[in-house]
Amino acid sequence: MSENDILKINFNESQFGTSPAAIAAMREVVGQVNRYPEPFSASLRTALGRFYGFGEDGLEHVVVAAGASGVLTVIGRALVSPGDEVVTCDPTFGAYEGLARANGGKTVLLPVTEGEVFDLAAMRAAISERTKLVCVCNPNNPTGTLVDHAELVDLIHSLPEGVVALVDEAYLEFADDEPGQTVMPEVLAGYPVIVVRTFSKIYGMAGARVGYAVSTKEITEKLAHKVPVFAAAREGLAGAIAALADQDYVAHTRQKVAESRAFLTGELEARGWHVYPSQTNFIYADSRRDTAALAKALRARGVLIRGDYEYSRITLGTIEEDKRLLAAIDEAIGAGEVPSR
Ligand SMILES: Cc1ncc(COP(=O)(O)O)c(C=O)c1O
Repeated sequence: MSENDILKINFNESQFGTSPAAIAAMREVVGQVNRYPEPFSASLRTALGRFYGFGEDGLEHVVVAAGASGVLTVIGRALVSPGDEVVTCDPTFGAYEGLARANGGKTVLLPVTEGEVFDLAAMRAAISERTKLVCVCNPNNPTGTLVDHAELVDLIHSLPEGVVALVDEAYLEFADDEPGQTVMPEVLAGYPVIVVRTFSKIYGMAGARVGYAVSTKEITEKLAHKVPVFAAAREGLAGAIAALADQDYVAHTRQKVAESRAFLTGELEARGWHVYPSQTNFIYADSRRDTAALAKALRARGVLIRGDYEYSRITLGTIEEDKRLLAAIDEAIGAGEVPSR
């Protein structure tokens, strides 16, 4: 099977491409790659600051790095010291544990609730004198679920002095009500929050490596000290500025993902699966069978999903791609390759 025949729905990349305006902008700067990019991504930071309502002060509220992963590394270096605690839930994106470990800190991992949702009450109760960061992945990877917005705002408002909330909104643009779920207003109001976002997901630019953090001036200053020079490449910056300006493409992708989510959820539920309510470009679904065996059987059929969590994590694609996945699932189960649990 050639690489082109493989349906790669295990990394939560966008299956809906990239804004043509962003592609054009990246093409335009390819001939200039003998030159370094802006050292600290000032143009994109200014554009993002304006986009989120910080006016001309944007530069002082935004840092940009190589993907949200690069931003999370910066946050760890800026805010975590040996002996510090980072509070988060499990399962979630592994980088929060990584940023604690890399800086000599310790992660306090709390189980998600029955519904696979971040347990904010347990997180609040777990804050100690050593806590520096509380990390909320919203919506959560791999479970796809959103927390209750009012509870998240309450948590932010109740943080003890010196504790910062890191809210990873890498997938929030896929949500039905992004404006009602983001904690960007808490940043604007001056609470100690860092919102992490990326051009890798809804903007379809995972290969261009651009992510960012939005925070108060005070926190942003600390982060800015740790951002490596030339952290974002010339093509990435040009593409991101054009992609941000093309919100029609974002709306198009959101709509396509929502259609796919409704279709695939319905099909899997009809097969007896339990699908957790997703507000992302992937679903977390209990096949009631051996999760790893299912991923292995699909892999043999050229379909890559994540099979190393408790349940299956599947990136949403086009309806045709979803149908290919479903056919592979039916075939694998029909062939007796996936034992029941
Ligand atoms: C929750 C979450 N945050 C951050 C990232 C990092 O994305 P990137 O480094 O591509 O911006 C990912 C990638 O999958 C993610 O799932």
